[in-house]
Amino acid sequence: MHDFRYVKNELYCEDLPVKALAESYGTPLYIYSYKTLIGHFRKLQAAFGDISPLICFSMKANSNSAICRALVKEGAGLDVVSGGELYKALAVGASPRKIVYASVGKTRDEIRDAIKAGILFFNVESLPELEVIDSVSGELRRKVDVCIRVNPDVSAHTHKFITTGKARDKFGLDFDSAKEVILSAGKFSNLKISGLHIHIGSQITQPYPFARAISKAASFIKKLQSSGVRLEYLNIGGGLGIVYKDERPQTAAKFSRAILPLLEALKVKVILEPGRFIVGNAGILVAAVTYVKSTKFKNFVIVDAGMNDLIRPALYGAYHEILPVTSYKGQGIRDCIKADVVGPICESSDFLGKDRKLPRLAQGNYLAIMGAGAYGFSMSSNYNSRCRAAEVLVNGKRAYLVRRREEYKDLTRGESIPPFLR
Ligand code: LLP
Repeated sequence: MHDFRYVKNELYCEDLPVKALAESYGTPLYIYSYKTLIGHFRKLQAAFGDISPLICFSMKANSNSAICRALVKEGAGLDVVSGGELYKALAVGASPRKIVYASVGKTRDEIRDAIKAGILFFNVESLPELEVIDSVSGELRRKVDVCIRVNPDVSAHTHKFITTGKARDKFGLDFDSAKEVILSAGKFSNLKISGLHIHIGSQITQPYPFARAISKAASFIKKLQSSGVRLEYLNIGGGLGIVYKDERPQTAAKFSRAILPLLEALKVKVILEPGRFIVGNAGILVAAVTYVKSTKFKNFVIVDAGMNDLIRPALYGAYHEILPVTSYKGQGIRDCIKADVVGPICESSDFLGKDRKLPRLAQGNYLAIMGAGAYGFSMSSNYNSRCRAAEVLVNGKRAYLVRRREEYKDLTRGESIPPFLR
C-alpha cells in the first residue's frame, strides 16, 4: 500500500530513516515516497489497460512541481481548476493536450489563458460559463472543445463537504439541461461539445456509486447517439478512496472490474481525474513534540505542526493515523498514554488526532501523521503567521528538497504599509 515501514524500531520512507530526514530538514516536514506515488499511478493504469484512458492527476490534491513532474513523466495528464494550477502544469512540462480544466467559477482571464495554451478541453458547469467560453474562443478565433459536467444525482456515501454529485450541489447541469445545451450546440459557433464529465465526490470507498453514476451517463450518451449526436469523451472524474483508518476501499482492479464493461460498451475515450488515490498514501507529515501537557481530564501532546499545515482533521473531522517515528517495541500498555495530538494554533479545532494511544513521549520526539500526501500541503496556509512546511521527495536512498521551508521574510513579501501610516 505504501513505502513507509518500520525497520526494527525506526520508521523508514523507502530506504531512509524518517528521523534522519526530520533532523536534517527540520519539522514540520512533508515527506513523499516516489515509489509509492508512481506505484499507485501504475496500478490504475494497469487496471484500465484494456481501454488506455487518459489519467489526469488532479493537481488540487498535491500541486508540488516535483510530484506533478514525476507523474507527467509517467505519461499522466493533469486536471486543473485555476489559472494558478494551469501555470504550474505548463511549468512542469505537461502537454497541453493532456490538460483538462474544471471549476464552477472559471474567470474570463483564466479561460483565455487556457485556450491560448491549447488545453484538451474545459469541463463546463453552467450555461453562462459556456457562453463566456464561446465568446472568448470567438475573440481568439479558435474552435474549443468542451465537456458538459452533468450532475447525476447519486449519493457518494462520503463526507457531506466532499459530495459533489447530488442534485442540490453546486456542480454540473442536470441531465435535462445538459440535453438542451447539447442539442442547441449550434448556438455556440466557436465550441465543440465533445463529451460529458461527471465527478460525484471524494474518498469514495465502494465501486457502486461510480457504477450508478456511469450507468446514468451511459444511458444519456446512448440516447444522444440515437438522436444523431456522437460524443468523443467521457470524463469519469476522480474520487477513489484510500485507507486512513479501517476503511476497506476498492482496489484499482475492483474499481475497473465494476465499471469497465459500462465504459467499453460506449466506445468513447475515457478520462480519469484521480488525486487522492495516487498521492494520499505517498506522503506523511512529520512533527516534533513541543510539550506534553496533562490536565485533570486529558493529556495533550503539543506538536509543532498545526491545522495550518494539515487542515483535514479540523475541517472534516478526518482521521489520520499517528505513529511514533521511533517506536519502542515491547513497550507495555502501562508505558502508553492516551492523548490528543494538537498543534500550537489558537483554536480548539487545531488538532491532528483525538484520544490516541501513544508511547510516552518527550520533547523533541517525532510523530508521523500518515496519509497526508493528498490535500495536506496543498490546503496549508500561513494562519497565525506560521511559515509553511518544507517538502521532501524520497527515491530509494536519496532525498530531495522539493520545496524549501518558508522563512519569516516570506510572510511579509508582497505586503506594504501605505504612506500615511509611515
Ligand atoms: N475531479 C474533480 C472535478 C474534483 O472536484 C476532484 C476533487 C477530483 C477530480 C479529485 O478527487 P480525488 O480523486 O482526489 O478524490 N479537500 C478534500 C477533498 C476535496 C476534493 C475536491 N475535488 C479532502 O481533504 O478530503
